[in-house]
Amino acid sequence: MEGKETVGVWLVGARGTISSAVICGLELLKRGAIAKTGLFTETLVGVSHNFVEYSEIVVGGCDLIESDTRSGVRSLVQQNILPWQHAELLSTIEWKADDNIVTLDKRCFSNGSFNKTLQHTISLIRGHIAHFKATYRLDRVIVVDCSSTSPVFTFTEIAAGLSTWSQLDDYFSNSFDDVSHSLLYAASAFNEGCAYINFTPNVASEIPALKELAVIKGIPHAGKDGKTGETLVKSVLAPLFLHRNLEVMSWQGYNMLGNADGKSLSDPRAKESKISSKSQSLTSILPHDDKLHANVSIDYVPSLGDWKVAWDFVHFKGFFDTAMSMDFTWRGCDTALAAPLVIDLVRLVDLDWRKGKDGVLKHLAAFFKSPTDFSCHDFHQQMQYLHNYLRSY
Ligand SMILES: NC(=O)c1ccc[n+]([C@@H]2O[C@H](COP(=O)([O-])OP(=O)(O)OC[C@H]3O[C@@H](n4cnc5c(N)ncnc54)[C@H](O)[C@@H]3O)[C@@H](O)[C@H]2O)c1
Repeated sequence: MEGKETVGVWLVGARGTISSAVICGLELLKRGAIAKTGLFTETLVGVSHNFVEYSEIVVGGCDLIESDTRSGVRSLVQQNILPWQHAELLSTIEWKADDNIVTLDKRCFSNGSFNKTLQHTISLIRGHIAHFKATYRLDRVIVVDCSSTSPVFTFTEIAAGLSTWSQLDDYFSNSFDDVSHSLLYAASAFNEGCAYINFTPNVASEIPALKELAVIKGIPHAGKDGKTGETLVKSVLAPLFLHRNLEVMSWQGYNMLGNADGKSLSDPRAKESKISSKSQSLTSILPHDDKLHANVSIDYVPSLGDWKVAWDFVHFKGFFDTAMSMDFTWRGCDTALAAPLVIDLVRLVDLDWRKGKDGVLKHLAAFFKSPTDFSCHDFHQQMQYLHNYLRSY
């Protein structure tokens, strides 16, 4: 069933900064109005992968806040994420996406106070996705989770007793607990026959019960937590120390960010979720006996807006135990780094799905800070694995 068909992208957190940039980016790409800088799928020169065209992607989604795409564009321009000259072109567009983005009642995700089971929320989400799919007669829908970072829930403990889909399904039908909202979106996506990409650090499709459901339904998924900035640089640099047998004694990373994501992370429980995701790359690449002191911290600095500043200090030693150090400062526009990754992931997941792949797409590890079922965090090796995989098509 090779061929070009219409693909729906259902953005969770559709009014957020990354989603707004994805919606605008797709419109500008369709019109050939921007360069394809930042898009990995555009680098595969001479290889015919038959990726879905930007013009064949229909966008829908949901959020908890009521807004519209025009306000999203304004906000991107105000934050210097989107150059103003593009806003003029975008102002002439009639935003179809606005018809397809629904506002959900936030009580759906604090089920204790809503007095409805988790299954109720799943049914609600499924209904909206099904409506989107039917309205546009979409061949495939990919649910892309770009929602806020949710706190670390004790769900992992619960999950230990809910390792099969039927146990988890039972739990959803009877529980009023607060769980990671992304878990409910992943379950909704699979049950509705949609692929799922988790760009957030939230607990979602990586738990065994949902991995089982994806395979039962024959659906691919990938996650989690997009690797866009400081962690990306770390996963490129850490192998240098490993391969030259230089002993890293300390690696301190300090991140400052001021966007809405940064604000969510000022909740200590959400911050814990992000830090745990960001900490994995170093400890997996470098030999981590008791000698390695590696810390990462995050602070919300509102004046920075979307412009994240990360300062990393690496203290290491070489021959004669001579101590040396390296530090770097990363100043990245988080959203301009993240949006093309989301678009690439949609195209790559769609391609795999058309080729009949299901379950975890491990070869997409290079895109994530906490890649599901892939223990290697070394960016070079991850990219090699991805290229080999794509060559095998
Ligand atoms: N920007 C980056 O470089 C980057 C990198 C990796 C991961 N991420 C992750 O991507 C996600 C989105 O980032 P962002 O900068 O767009 O954040 P954002 O705060 O601008 O947007 C998140 C959106 O999710 C919505 N939301 C919250 N709970 C929801 C729910 N239950 N259902 C539906 N919508 C919900 C919010 O209302 C908001 O509009 C975050 O989890 C962030 O940690 C971002």
